[in-house]
Amino acid sequence: MAAPPPPLLLILILLLLPTPFASSSGDDLAALLALKAAVTNDPSGALSAWSGASATSYCRWRGVTCNPSSLAVEAIDLPGASLSGTLPADLPLPPRLRRLDLAANNFSGSVPDAFLASSTLRYLDLSFNGLSGPLKIPLPLGNSSSPPCAALTDLRLAGNLLVDQIPAKIAQCRSLRVLDLSRNVLEGAIPRELGRLAALRVLDVSRNSLTDRIPVELANCRELAVLVLTNLTASPGEQPEFNAFVGGLPTEVLTIPALEVLWAPRANLDGRLPLSRNGTCALRAVNLGHNYIAGVVPPWFGECHGMTFLDLSSNSLEGSMPAELAIGCLTYLNVSANSLSGQLLSSTKSQCPSSLNGDDIVMQYYDELVHNVLIGNPFAPEMGNIANVALHDFSNNDLSGPLPSLTVSLDRNNSYGLWLNGNMFNTTLSAGFFEFCKAAATIAVNLSSNQLSGNLDMLSSCISIHSFDAGYNNFSGSIPASISGLHFLRSLVLRDNNLTGQIPGLFGDLAALEVLDLSRNSLTGSIPIHLTDALRLQVLRLDHNRLSGSIPPSFSDLTQLTVLDVSFNNLSGDIPNLRHPADCGFFVGNSLLHQCLGTSASLPPTEATSSSKGAKKWGARFKSLIVILVAASTAVISFLLVILLFFVCERRKRAKISNLRTKMVVTFTDAPPELTYENLIRATGNFSIQNLIGTGGFGATYKAELAPGFLVAVKRLAMGRFQGLQQFDAEIRTLGRIRHKNLVTLIGYHIGDSDTFLIYNFLSGGNLETFIHEMGSRNVCWTEVHKIAVDVAQALAFLHCSCTPRIIHRDIKPSNILLDEDLNAYLSDFGLARLIEVTQTHATTDVAGTFGYVAPEYATTCRVSDKADVYSFGVVLLELMSGKRSLDPSFSQFGNGFTIVSWGRMLMQEGNTSEFFFRGLLDAAGNDRLTEMLKIALSCTSESVAVRPSMRQVAAKLKQLGND
Ligand SMILES: *[C@@H]1O[C@H](CO)[C@@H](O)[C@H](O)[C@H]1NC(C)=O
Ligand SMILES: *[C@@H]1O[C@H](CO)[C@@H](O)[C@H](O)[C@H]1NC(C)=O
Ligand SMILES: *[C@@H]1O[C@H](CO)[C@@H](O)[C@H](O)[C@H]1NC(C)=O
Ligand SMILES: *[C@@H]1O[C@H](CO)[C@@H](O)[C@H](O)[C@H]1NC(C)=O
Repeated sequence: MAAPPPPLLLILILLLLPTPFASSSGDDLAALLALKAAVTNDPSGALSAWSGASATSYCRWRGVTCNPSSLAVEAIDLPGASLSGTLPADLPLPPRLRRLDLAANNFSGSVPDAFLASSTLRYLDLSFNGLSGPLKIPLPLGNSSSPPCAALTDLRLAGNLLVDQIPAKIAQCRSLRVLDLSRNVLEGAIPRELGRLAALRVLDVSRNSLTDRIPVELANCRELAVLVLTNLTASPGEQPEFNAFVGGLPTEVLTIPALEVLWAPRANLDGRLPLSRNGTCALRAVNLGHNYIAGVVPPWFGECHGMTFLDLSSNSLEGSMPAELAIGCLTYLNVSANSLSGQLLSSTKSQCPSSLNGDDIVMQYYDELVHNVLIGNPFAPEMGNIANVALHDFSNNDLSGPLPSLTVSLDRNNSYGLWLNGNMFNTTLSAGFFEFCKAAATIAVNLSSNQLSGNLDMLSSCISIHSFDAGYNNFSGSIPASISGLHFLRSLVLRDNNLTGQIPGLFGDLAALEVLDLSRNSLTGSIPIHLTDALRLQVLRLDHNRLSGSIPPSFSDLTQLTVLDVSFNNLSGDIPNLRHPADCGFFVGNSLLHQCLGTSASLPPTEATSSSKGAKKWGARFKSLIVILVAASTAVISFLLVILLFFVCERRKRAKISNLRTKMVVTFTDAPPELTYENLIRATGNFSIQNLIGTGGFGATYKAELAPGFLVAVKRLAMGRFQGLQQFDAEIRTLGRIRHKNLVTLIGYHIGDSDTFLIYNFLSGGNLETFIHEMGSRNVCWTEVHKIAVDVAQALAFLHCSCTPRIIHRDIKPSNILLDEDLNAYLSDFGLARLIEVTQTHATTDVAGTFGYVAPEYATTCRVSDKADVYSFGVVLLELMSGKRSLDPSFSQFGNGFTIVSWGRMLMQEGNTSEFFFRGLLDAAGNDRLTEMLKIALSCTSESVAVRPSMRQVAAKLKQLGND
């Protein structure tokens, strides 16, 4: 054992120790203080202790980690510390810093040069701040010989406002393992130089405005395990996806041996997937849904033994499902909305490979992405834990032959959903089909819209069924009594089949039953009283059968029952008093049923004309009924006639009520109970001029206050005869699904004989036309104008690129842009041009737009493209900047055909742009910024379609303009 050193030596050592690091500690301190100085707001006091610079006391400052022996600052971790301020471009870094995490703060400015120039920094996370400007890879600092960012393994910049292209020089950061640039405003191509990043494991470029081909060079990243090209979200507040690539996904990239997660939904990809591959497949999750991929589902997916997630929905895939794919081992499989045909076979693996664990970073991305998809599963509300859900969606293809026998590998307690609807399966229900019922505790199956036949006896073998839809098939026979053993059944839909016999009263034993739809069959007998023991029942549809007898009065005990539709049967007696307001339309077509009085006491005001029309309609129906009866039997005629005449007279008396009460409003959102046809008519004062808030090419819009504070806008469509109700219905339902924060929300619609209308959310700020022409009387500021422009551009970019089906608006003009009280802008009337076109008998090929806003090529050729919308948007932007109309009277001095576009172009050429802008706006925003915006507007309104930018590019440019 060594002797203790003499005290003198100890003192000497202590004196000497700090000196080699003296300059370093000075730099450390200076860097920390510079960071602190950049912070202008620190509400949570995270940096309050960052002061008092005694030697190396900063090692104890919050978020700072020093090397225990050298005391050099090695890490700064201040994520989510609510810090804000602008990072100066020359902000220094502690010279030996290895890790910097400032994620989820409010920093603005650009990424400081020193961050990426540092040759020691390994981990840099600046995600979710407000950093803007282009991303630059600077030259190495000072006379350091090592290349910039040579040590950097993690570069995380998601959720900022970075613009321009991804710099090719990023390839100099040789050690990069994680490159996350998602949720920025980056445009252009993914640089092929990224292929030089040999260590890259994760590349996430989703939610930018990237275009162009996916570079095949990416396949040189042999370690690449996670590739996220696009990422969709259902939540409206989040930045939408604007990436839209050109061409297909290169085979070489798809077959990178290390690739585990490939995520590119709605990425505008086309091409085919390779039929074969060499080498092993590590893929676990593949999402290529909503693209334009043709060809077949590659059989080699069956060799990817770790695969648990496969989404190829909404592409143009053909051929049959490859039998090699062990469907039962996939947690999520979605091939819906393709053109797959043939039989559905599945290789029966006795055991699925237990999921191999990936490295943490891969699993983190996997979980995040897959979770986001599964969150919308039908079991979500009660099952909570999505880790226990398996979903297989084969719907809307051309699959045929027998139903598959799928053995699903699940642990018990799991939920399983199987969608086979919208195919051409044409067998009977066999025991083999329900094999999967043994594996799961909660099951949902949709078999609707196939050609299935035979009886439903086998259904009761699936004890764990929770929801079963077999509507629109050819099932026959009677409903088996054994169904009463399905104690978990919540929803049973058997509508539009050929079921006969009686409704088993044993349905009343199903304590969980909420929805029972047996409509449009040939059921006979009476409605069993025992049915009303199913106390959870919310929706009961028995319409269009041959039921007779009376309606059990005990329906009044069902507190949840909102829909009881028994129309078009042979029921008699009284209508029970229901807990929820009943729609009389649910009781019509039962000639012996007593008069429906409804439950709502107040009657809506109506005009004389509409009531007499209603009376005529009812008269007509009953007249035709009478004719049939005359032919059928002379003996009962007189008796029935008396009754019918009595009814006709009664109807005439009550025509006002009946006419309205048989009308229905279909809603897309969880609409409040006030949203009924009657209330709408009343609240618009029967479409009175006092409530008129706008007129347009598609019809007039009215305001309706349904309850105090609950307002909607009702657009009454100016339409001729329908070509097809179904087509209209399908189109409008598609529109109802489209949601974006800058689109007005379609709440519901009504299709009627006399009128058809759409119901939207009401926006109190008027429309942009009024806003523009009242600019003189208010203080317009740049942020308002800029925000409106960005809002509209984003809405349009969304319609063009990110929604299915893609929508060309065709009538962009200020009066179609609505504002709320905070001046958020919303685009309205999207999709209506097509709606009218496909559902009218005389399909117009006319130009749908408005004079002054229509692109020249659209006006002359009637050929519409998204670039026509870009033109109209440009005109709106010009109006917004100038406060003048597109065809302003003041332009007449320049001669015929002179528009706001010509004027802007003229002033731009003369270099006299300040003349163009609205005076108040010019004072507020300055000429330079407005001139930039004018340039954008003029490129949008270029004569040449090819020169016009895409809406995605416009949105990105406009956004960038606000950050300068
Ligand atoms: C994808 O989007 C979801 C929802 O916005 C988000 O939670 C998730 O982090 C994103 N994932 C990636 C890898 O970008
Ligand atoms: C697989 O490898 C063989 C031999 O190396 C080659 O001929 C073939 O083209 C490869 N196939 C694919 C799909 O890469
Ligand atoms: C089912 O459809 C297939 C192909 O369309 C046909 O060959 C077969 O005969 C059909 N089977 C039944 C039971 O209708
Ligand atoms: C319904 O069933 C009956 C008797 O079982 C049969 O005569 C009739 O053709 C079937 N209808 C349809 C549309 O299949």
